[in-house]
Amino acid sequence: MSQKIIIDTDPGIDDTMAIFFALNSPEIDVLGLTTVYGNTPTERGTINALRILEIASRTDIPVYAGAIKPLESEYTGKGEFVHGHDGQGNTNLEPAKTKKGTGSAVDFLEKAIKENPGEVTLVPVGPLTNIAQLLLNNPKIAKDIKEIILMGGNALSQGNASPSAEANIRNDPEAADIVFSADCEISMVGLDVTNQVFMDKEHIDKIVNFDSPQTKHLKKIFPFYVDFLSKFFDKEGMATHDSSAIAYLIDRNLFKTIQYPIVVETLGISRGKTWMGTGMDQLDHNPWEDRRNVNICIEVDEEKVIDLIIQRVAS
Ligand code: BDR
Ligand code: CA
Repeated sequence: MSQKIIIDTDPGIDDTMAIFFALNSPEIDVLGLTTVYGNTPTERGTINALRILEIASRTDIPVYAGAIKPLESEYTGKGEFVHGHDGQGNTNLEPAKTKKGTGSAVDFLEKAIKENPGEVTLVPVGPLTNIAQLLLNNPKIAKDIKEIILMGGNALSQGNASPSAEANIRNDPEAADIVFSADCEISMVGLDVTNQVFMDKEHIDKIVNFDSPQTKHLKKIFPFYVDFLSKFFDKEGMATHDSSAIAYLIDRNLFKTIQYPIVVETLGISRGKTWMGTGMDQLDHNPWEDRRNVNICIEVDEEKVIDLIIQRVAS
């Protein structure tokens, strides 16, 4: 039985590969894409999502536009130097012919969960504003969500948007904190593992040398991302952030997790840091009290995850 998922995304170069990866995986049934600002503004990201589905010949999957800014702050649009001004590596993707769904992303999420209680896994791979808004509108809905598997956060390692914080969480820490307090199963696929899933030139070549509409598109958009990340990591290649969340969904045995509740710092230089509550029971005031444990990915079988991504994307 395939797993019903909704990908909440800010597409985004690595988001694009993650969407193709999910669409090509028989274990997964993508019910819809919901969009959010982040790597690119929501309007642009929504066009990208529609176009990505057209490239994959999956226009049967609906796209709903979501939040255009964080819950309590402004969107500063800092993803452009990583993903290009269009979120697709400045490749000037041709306009989508298909249209987004009428209604909001949050309404679609709520409807899909209510129609399939206990069956829908949410896979947010961008800032968590839409998911937080869903929980704010209807806190009881958490019990009907099968699981939230999110790409974001950093438990044991440095951030990438600041020394303390990962970009998706740093974009809307207030929203992220609401999500980590939800009463449902949550798994965090953060930088602790996604930075380790590093595709080098040989891996990338296996994808871009394959001949399909999806891989032809990835061939166009990868160079901008690879150029930026190669400088960031001081080696040629790219960290496979969003696809790692899809790999976790398919086979969580490829990851080692630890279980602790998470609180997101919203103040000062640590704004956006995902803090684990490790053995804090003795505190008079325990900020992690009343939160469920999160499955926090801390180790990954890099080779097997990369093999799985290549096998599915280049197919
Ligand atoms: C996350 O930030 C975005 O740039 C990527 O798409 C990914 O979701 C990595 O920190
Ligand atoms: Ca993303």
